[in-house]
Amino acid sequence: ASLDMFVDELPQMPRLYGYSRREGLLLPGNLTIGMYEKKWKFHRDLPATTVFAFGTSAAAATVPGPTIEALQGVPTSVTWLNFLPRSHILPWDPTIPTAIPKHGGVPTVVHLHGGVHPPDSDGNAFAWFTSGFHETGPKWTRKTYAYPNVQHAGNLWYHDHTVGLTRVNLLAGLIGAYVIRDPSLEVELDLPSGPDFDQHLMVFDRSFTKDGSLYMNSTGDNPNIHPQWQPEYFGDAIIVNGKAWPYLKVQRRKYRFRIINPSNARYYKFSLTTGLSFIMVASDASYLPSPVITKSFLLAPSETADVIIDFSTTEAKEVMLKNGAPYPYPSGSSVDRLNGEVMKFVVLSGNPNPPDRSRVPPSLKVYSTTQKPTVKRYSLKLYIVLYEYESATGDPTHLYINGKRLTDPATETPKTGSTETWEVINLTEDNNPLHIHLATFHAIKGRQLLDLESFKSCMTEKNDAVACNVTGHAKGKSLKIPSYEKTWKNVVKMEPGYQTTIVVKFNLIENDAPYPFDATTEPNYVYHCHILDHEDNAMIRPLKLVA
Ligand code: C2O
Repeated sequence: ASLDMFVDELPQMPRLYGYSRREGLLLPGNLTIGMYEKKWKFHRDLPATTVFAFGTSAAAATVPGPTIEALQGVPTSVTWLNFLPRSHILPWDPTIPTAIPKHGGVPTVVHLHGGVHPPDSDGNAFAWFTSGFHETGPKWTRKTYAYPNVQHAGNLWYHDHTVGLTRVNLLAGLIGAYVIRDPSLEVELDLPSGPDFDQHLMVFDRSFTKDGSLYMNSTGDNPNIHPQWQPEYFGDAIIVNGKAWPYLKVQRRKYRFRIINPSNARYYKFSLTTGLSFIMVASDASYLPSPVITKSFLLAPSETADVIIDFSTTEAKEVMLKNGAPYPYPSGSSVDRLNGEVMKFVVLSGNPNPPDRSRVPPSLKVYSTTQKPTVKRYSLKLYIVLYEYESATGDPTHLYINGKRLTDPATETPKTGSTETWEVINLTEDNNPLHIHLATFHAIKGRQLLDLESFKSCMTEKNDAVACNVTGHAKGKSLKIPSYEKTWKNVVKMEPGYQTTIVVKFNLIENDAPYPFDATTEPNYVYHCHILDHEDNAMIRPLKLVA
């Protein structure tokens, strides 16, 4: 028997303010947020589940964690504390590169996804720490992280980033939203606002056992090599803000939803019933130049879609949010009755109260893309190849970028404040969301690789995209970049069998000014596939900014 759908009301996560006000002045905010083991009710009829949760206390901790509200230009510092027990609640795998503390404990380290911040606040995978800082990883330097919030306003989120444990730490619940607001821009745009009409939806998939525990297969696909590691985790229940298939009562008016996908590996192709459309206003942490009306959109792990839904344009009493993406995406099984449903909007009758005075302006925000003579840049053509290694039985044993490990010396060494062109070649069977820390980027074109097999075998032999003549192989169908993704993103989907060209800005903030922190110190940044099971084994590489 499966759980009844739409019986729990959608929760709004608690809000923490990353700033304060004194005598009319805005002051930096200092927050302390802990990670706790606790019980969490994912569904009315499911026994409470043991989770790892972020919060200001064990009692206040939630899954997802509190939403951090920051203001553009006002710094926020967060002291992240680990109160987790001696052992993990999920099966992890010591045969992949993993933080294994000598004295037990669950290592964690927090990364602000999409943030422009100094390297020692980036949450380096080796900067982990256990409960009470009893033990720290080799790159640990500080307890309190600095988030300067100097980038343009937008949607970020925070999550664990520990080497080899990211997939299980997020699966256990270590995720939360972070938003940088620019109040004058919000007034100017006049989109739906305030906590009732501007809400976060964090959508992720989980499986449970009968006793309510999180279920993760504890036998790897290829147990002789990796006893537990699986290449992709998929759960059959869809969770929004910590409840399985919740409902939300809405008025007949416009709402803004900032939809974040913190799932390990699941892509969502969202659509609405009753003929309603989404009006997309932003993607990841950047606005679109103008609103994009679409009946559906695809959201990869770690991407954010910021959409308006106008419930005044339907007569229906109920509108369902649906998912149509196969898993793994795009080569896997089609969605079923369970993971094809996300949540239900119950549309209240009568006129909205207060009346809806928000609007969707015809143009939103354009970020500068042209070079400014004052900023020194260079452009480099880099080939980034994502591919998987297989055992004799054809199961993936590990996935690498450019055939290299995280601990191999950095080969991507952009100058701080520069723009680069990367050619990203995806030789795996599935779409892979590429995330680059500190950077914003967008795809400009893509070409299907012809003769994939010969290119793959050349890469296995020579591990050199240029020598294997990638230009000779990338000739087929071209990639269409949806208009709802045409802005400066922090995650871009890489089609399997394609070479995708991305333009990447490093360490540039609003109006392409470089932020004056030293981004070249150690420990430095990383870039990786944001399918967490891939990232852990080990589709992740260092990114070293140089002066
Ligand atoms: Cu959202 Cu390096 O991660």
